Amino acid sequence: MSKVTLKTANGSYDILVGSGLLSQAGTLLKDRGFSTGKVAVVTDTRVRKLHCDTLEKSLKDSGFNILVIEIPEGEDQKSLETAGRLYETLTDFYAERNTPLLALGGGVIGDLTGFVAATYMRGVPLIQIPTTLLSQGDSSIGGKTAVNHGQVKNKIGAFYHPRLTISDISNLGTLNTRELSNGLSEIIKHGLILDADFFEYLEENIDKIRAMDEQVLENIVARSAEIKARVVEKDELDLGLRNILNCGHTVGHAVESVSGLKTWHGEAVSVGLMVEARISNELNMMKDIEIERLENILKKAGLPTELPNLAPEKLLEAMKHDKKVAEGKIRFALPKRIGEVFITDDVSTSIIEKALVN
Ligand SMILES: NC(=O)c1ccc[n+]([C@@H]2O[C@H](COP(=O)([O-])OP(=O)(O)OC[C@H]3O[C@@H](n4cnc5c(N)ncnc54)[C@H](O)[C@@H]3O)[C@@H](O)[C@H]2O)c1
Ligand SMILES: [Zn+2]
Repeated sequence: MSKVTLKTANGSYDILVGSGLLSQAGTLLKDRGFSTGKVAVVTDTRVRKLHCDTLEKSLKDSGFNILVIEIPEGEDQKSLETAGRLYETLTDFYAERNTPLLALGGGVIGDLTGFVAATYMRGVPLIQIPTTLLSQGDSSIGGKTAVNHGQVKNKIGAFYHPRLTISDISNLGTLNTRELSNGLSEIIKHGLILDADFFEYLEENIDKIRAMDEQVLENIVARSAEIKARVVEKDELDLGLRNILNCGHTVGHAVESVSGLKTWHGEAVSVGLMVEARISNELNMMKDIEIERLENILKKAGLPTELPNLAPEKLLEAMKHDKKVAEGKIRFALPKRIGEVFITDDVSTSIIEKALVN
């Protein structure tokens, strides 16, 4: 098992990564001072069928009184309506200030449950139990919780850290190939922006990752969590440094929005990383050989590297409307070389266009 500790302004918590951790959840909670009493598990239909029994058994064996709240799958559930239903169910269960909420699922369950935990009775303890590669390597770390509102993603939210994160690598075994690939782009991004050795490790082990080698998966989830945790610690409220995590996202978000939110986030970020690496190349930073390495690893990871069939003008327009725009200028977190990143809002439209149509 690997352990990453994240220090926050109000304390610190552990991110545990390893195989078979779900069956130890009861003990892990007790070890961290949760007295046996009520716990509420929030999960979705698919994850409940696949993994919830293991969690329930572990909690029961440790003497907890469990309420399982199942919601349908999908991004649509990240809504105030679903949050409202969760508040009601928790009220019926007589959940109290000290009743922990356990988020068992992917990023959707993590974001929604985190938001409910932050707001129900002004905050109840949150335990993240991410089950997708995207949520284990990225979204469960950093305390951002949210629901969508209208057409806007993550419009209503709160910064709220869990008391413990349990990433059970064995749970990844039930994801399909595309879902596993989708989770890899943010992990590759972490290597690209801050850790050249990790990037190289990913290059060397990509076949093992895709063959679901649990030791390699544990290593990459733990390293990815560590890289993100170190950034979050320095900028908990996203006021500056955390911007570097947006590498690939200026273009990635534009792809998501122009495709009507039909493109998967990880796949959009993969394409975004390629376009932004080309912008960096135009600015004489990323070298041709490094662009090639990036393209190779993304391809081997099963991720797209070409823009889908979307009009470049529309993408540019979407970038201008993105929240990362400061005083009318499009802001990028561009790879400088493998393992380094820089922020700039000084990229000419012609360079962006050139990178988009490449
Ligand atoms: N809070 C953050 O910092 C942050 C960062 C990035 C993304 N996100 C959010 O994360 C969400 C995307 O997360 P996601 O990609 O995990 O999607 P998701 O939660 O929708 O999960 C994808 C699908 O996989 C299924 N699933 C989950 N675990 C499984 C398992 N072990 N085996 C089989 N199926 C499983 C789910 O039922 C779902 O159908 C988005 O809403 C995004 O906004 C948040
Ligand atoms: Zn992202």
